[in-house]
Amino acid sequence: MIVKNFFGTTAKGEAVDIYTLRNSSETAVDILTYGATVNSIYVADKNGNFADVLSGFDTLEGHEKFSDYQGMTVGRYANRIAGGKFSIDGVEYNVEKNEKGITCLHGGAELSTAVWKAFIVDDNSIEMNYTSPDGAMGFPGKVDFKVTFTLHEDNALKIEYSAVSDKKTVINMTNHAYFNLAGKGDILAHELMINADAYTPIDENSIPTGEIRSVEGTPFDFRTAKPIGRDIDADDDQLAIGKGYDHNFCLNDSDGPIATAYEPESGRFLEVFTDLCGVQLYTGNFLDGTKIGKNGDPLIRNAGFCLETQFYPNTPNMPEFPQCTVDAGEKFTSCTVFRFSVK
Ligand code: BGC
Repeated sequence: MIVKNFFGTTAKGEAVDIYTLRNSSETAVDILTYGATVNSIYVADKNGNFADVLSGFDTLEGHEKFSDYQGMTVGRYANRIAGGKFSIDGVEYNVEKNEKGITCLHGGAELSTAVWKAFIVDDNSIEMNYTSPDGAMGFPGKVDFKVTFTLHEDNALKIEYSAVSDKKTVINMTNHAYFNLAGKGDILAHELMINADAYTPIDENSIPTGEIRSVEGTPFDFRTAKPIGRDIDADDDQLAIGKGYDHNFCLNDSDGPIATAYEPESGRFLEVFTDLCGVQLYTGNFLDGTKIGKNGDPLIRNAGFCLETQFYPNTPNMPEFPQCTVDAGEKFTSCTVFRFSVK
């Protein structure tokens, strides 16, 4: 069942709607037209008690004032582009350097702050559309973006992305949900598994150095589930740069989940599936309690963790990484599934 309501008005005066997708077990997902944002996911714990497992905001004002992309659709290029520039066929493009004036982070936030057009597809799906003009944030091509959200009966939220540009360009889309399966506190006790033998170490600007480093014997080894907090404060150069985990993992080929998370007290279990080659694990390290989130509670350090499925960061400048360039008229597609259950 899908219900549409008015959510609020942006500072610019645009009306924003909230769509609630609900299945027969009362699992519910709230999606905003602002940023095509997954605002809340209500799932039962092992005793049948429901909680919202996304850290974020309950007002539009919160999103506009405090957002670190909580729940948002991110693009055109999720994650970072070094120096805010790259070339395609010998033409250099300078894109928004919205991170400390040095890097382009999350495509300059255009998609995340746009108000998308929404359509109800059927009883469990909605589609959101946004057209980004040629040159937006410095990126080439007018691009038609589409994101479809489907809530299945097995409590899987499927997010399908597509984009078609009228010029050769780069596309890397993700969702930036901050999960907290307890619905409160921090996420350090969540037991996380990531099916990755390697990750991409970063420099001081959080740009991959180009090395594909084995996780073996490092705090980045999540191949067997372990509490996020176990090694997060280990003496490690990479953790020091990110103030915790803020790194891309190179996913192993598999039909199974690329990541799982289990919260022992509630018994809630999350499985993540994707057709993409990377995932950014970000453990909310830069949250410091000064921003106010849902229910007026401060967003504390490690309030949520993100599993941002993606192409590796800075791909347009790293020819050795899998590429995300699309030709004019070529359709970019990707799909990520977040499935909830209890154990
Ligand atoms: C980045 C973090 C950043 C966060 C919020 C993540 O994808 O890797 O460094 O703080 O997004 O912008």
